Parts: sequence; structure tokens; C-alpha cells
Amino acid sequence: MQITVEPKPAGQVEADALIVPVFEGRKDARFGAADLFNSGEVAGKPLELTLLHHAPGVRATRVLLAGGGKPEKFDAAEMRRLSGAAVRFLKAKSIKNVAFALDPEFGGDGYASAVIEGAILGDFEPDRYKTSDDKKSIDGFALAAGTPGLDTAVERGRIVGEAQNFTRDLVNQPANRLTPLAMADVARKMAAESGLECEVLDRDEMEKLGMGALLGVAQGSAEPPVMIVLGYRPADARASVHLGLVGKGVTFDTGGISIKPADGMEKMKYDMAGGAAMIGAMRAIAQLRPAIRVSAFVPCVENMPGSRAQRPGDIVTAMNGKTIEVVNTDAEGRLILADALTYARRRGCTHLVDAATLTGAVVVALGHLNAGLFASEDGMRDRVLAASRAEGERMWPLPLEEDYKEYLKSSFADIANVGGRWGGAVTAAIFLKEFAEDTPWTHLDIAGTAWLDESKPYLAKGPTGLPVRTLVRLAMDWKD
Ligand code: BES
Ligand code: ZN
Ligand code: ZN
Repeated sequence: MQITVEPKPAGQVEADALIVPVFEGRKDARFGAADLFNSGEVAGKPLELTLLHHAPGVRATRVLLAGGGKPEKFDAAEMRRLSGAAVRFLKAKSIKNVAFALDPEFGGDGYASAVIEGAILGDFEPDRYKTSDDKKSIDGFALAAGTPGLDTAVERGRIVGEAQNFTRDLVNQPANRLTPLAMADVARKMAAESGLECEVLDRDEMEKLGMGALLGVAQGSAEPPVMIVLGYRPADARASVHLGLVGKGVTFDTGGISIKPADGMEKMKYDMAGGAAMIGAMRAIAQLRPAIRVSAFVPCVENMPGSRAQRPGDIVTAMNGKTIEVVNTDAEGRLILADALTYARRRGCTHLVDAATLTGAVVVALGHLNAGLFASEDGMRDRVLAASRAEGERMWPLPLEEDYKEYLKSSFADIANVGGRWGGAVTAAIFLKEFAEDTPWTHLDIAGTAWLDESKPYLAKGPTGLPVRTLVRLAMDWKD
């Protein structure tokens, strides 16, 4: 999608369709909308879309009135959805060149970025492996803005939207095509194109480092494990901060010997969504250049029940020396993250954020609307929550109290990898805390939010690309 800024009145922009936001309680008289408002056919309700031909006062062939709802409730997140829904509506009709009328009241940077992000996200389809020739997508998207100086905001929106789609494409890849080694190749190529440092640790190196928890998970698969490390190091970096982004990269989760039921197992290709989000966030960070040092650590394994697979009851020693009783091989995410968190600390990270499709329990607790957020201290929680709110990626704090550690007691090792039946999302987070130790850290359980089971008007079903935007903003807005 080619993105341009048109510094002229929206009516003068040539396009196959001009998207015009309209609002409840504001009878818009432009472009022939007055009669439709008067008759009640158009009310401006959220995501209400009305396509007009031969609208007066426009060069564009069509006008799409796009409802923004009540003006007092409208914000950048709503704008992103409106833009996405409009793009999806138009591209389904094979419309190729679109313009968007951004009124001066939306002159703030946040709105312009949101329009562009919404358009890019709305245009994405998880159809990479469909061979049909008539894939529909938008070729040109012009922002018709009365306000000058929006180029930076538009560019930011493009970078972030494309990074999020990069993550969505990665998450959508099936496990036969995206093995841990293939994921490392994707990261290496992206790093080379973006000017990031990239290292890929192989099994031997991880053995030398003592990553017994990660290697225990990997041993059931013929696919070798990797640890992807990406580094962004600005020349003017503030010396005191080194943000570490740690993402779960299970390219497929069968459950291992504690095998999952067949029904729905095909979805477990998305068990690397946390890792893919970190790689996507690094791609945007490389282009937007925040003032702090950022590194990503993505442990990639396939959790399989092969003949060499670890068994329930096995005891492994993690990189930080703690012993873990693997009571359930399906609780593998926390095992690989344990060593990745230790490694990130060893590499000098001063602050850590991890994202993982870690538990079914977080979906029971929060549904598909909020990711679970667990923070070791208020400062980290507030930073991540502020970024998530600004980006419209919803997250909700859950407890991380010491008392829960009781649930992870093992008779035979320092800690068990599962708690009992209750509080599964919390016990998973408590387990990780043993490895984040005293480094300020936030854990995001994205099991319910990284994948959409049904399309939304503004987003195709499949991978959502969460929480790429939050992570990018976290790095960009970092203040000591
Ligand atoms: N990848 C799953 C978590 C998951 C479940 C993600 C459903 C998305 C949808 C994770 O590895 C897992 O299997 N967790 C177990 C933990 C249990 C064994 C304590 C779970 O949630 O059932
Ligand atoms: Zn699992
Ligand atoms: Zn998993």
C-alpha cells in the first residue's frame, strides 16, 4: 500500500473513494450527507458505513461516510478502527485507491498515525498461502489533511503498522514452514535490513550456558532449538537503561508427552506470537530510533512428544541454577522463558518485558479483550499500562503476590512447573518471577489476545500482532 499525504481540501483529492468520518449528533452537510442524516439513514454510529456515488463537491468517484460514534467518546483508538473498517469495506469491493479526509480537529499526531495504522492493519489478510489471483488489497492510501506537518506522524504510523503486520504474518506461518531455524532466518534477514545486531545461539551454545529448562522442552523434537538475540544500540543511548524484550517462541505446542486434545490443536502454531511480537517491535524500533538501548531475546523450540521427549516428573536445572520438576510438559512456555529471562539479565538488561501465549487460564480470567499484565513493581506496571492505553492494546493488571509461590511447591526440586487447578495465569507468572529475580519486570500473557477467532470489521481473523504497538511506544516514551 502506497501512502501519501495530500495537503489539499479532501474534496479536491482524486481517488476511487474518499473516506469521511461522521459523528452521532452532528448532522454533516458535506458531500450530500445532509439528506441522509435528515432521513435517519445515516446516524454516525460507530463503524456504520454508507457508500455514496455522485456525491456533490468531491473529485473522488465515491464517498464513504464512516461512523465515528459520539464525538466525546472518540479517540485515536476509535480512529484506528474506523480507518481499518473503511479500508476493509472498500477493498472487498475491489476498490484500489482511497483517500481519507482528516479534518483539522484531528490535527494531533496521534490521529494521523492511527488513520495510517488502521488502514495498514485493515488491509492485511492471512492469505499468504492461498494461490488465487484475485486477492483484494488497497494500492494507494492518501491522507487528505487540512493541517500541515503531519509527515512524521504518517511515517510513524506506517512504520508501526507495517511492523505489526510483519508480526501477524510471522504468527500466521504454519509450523512445517516456520521451524525454530526458519524463525531465526526471518530475524536475521530483518536485522540485516534494519541495521540491528543479530545473534542466534544454537543447541551447543545453550548447553554451555546451562539452559537446561529450555533444552528439556526442545529434546522431544527433531527440530533444533535456537535463541534469537536482536540488539538495538543507539550512539546516544542513555547508559542507565537497557530494555530487554523476551518473547515465547514455541513454533508448535503439541503439549509434549502431556499431549493436548486434537480438537483445535492446529491453532497452536500461534504459540510463538510473543516472540514474533518482539521481533516485529525491534523492526519498528530500528526505524524510529528511541534514545535507549533495547535487546530482544526469543527462545524458539517445538514442543513435541518424540521418543527423546522429557517426561512428567523429569527434573531439569535452569541457567540460574534452580531445579525444576516438570510435572506437566505442556507448561513449556515458562520453561523456555525461564532461561531466556536469566540470559537477558546476564546480558545486562536493566528492565524486562516478556510476552507469551502462556496460559489458557488467562483467557478464562479476561476473555479475548485484555491481555493479563503482571509486574514486579509499580513503576514498570505504570510504564507498560500507559503505553498500552495510548495504543489501544488493552491489558489488565493481575496479582503477583509472594503467597502464590506456595502453589508451585515441589517435593523433589526447587519449584514445580505447574500449580494446581486454580489461578493458572498467576502461578505461571509467579514461576517466571523466580527467573526475572530482582530485575524490574513485566509479564504479558497474550494467550487470549494474540489471535482473533472471528474477523472484526477492522481486522481480519487470525493473528492480531499484539502487543507490538505497546512495546514500541514503551521504548519511544521511556523517561528515566
Ligand atoms: N500454549 C499454551 C497456552 C495456551 C492455551 C495458549 C490455550 C492459547 C490457548 C501453554 O503452553 C499451555 O499449554 N499451558 C497450559 C498450562 C497448564 C498445563 C498448567 C494450559 O494453559 O493449559
Ligand atoms: Zn503448552
Ligand atoms: Zn505453549
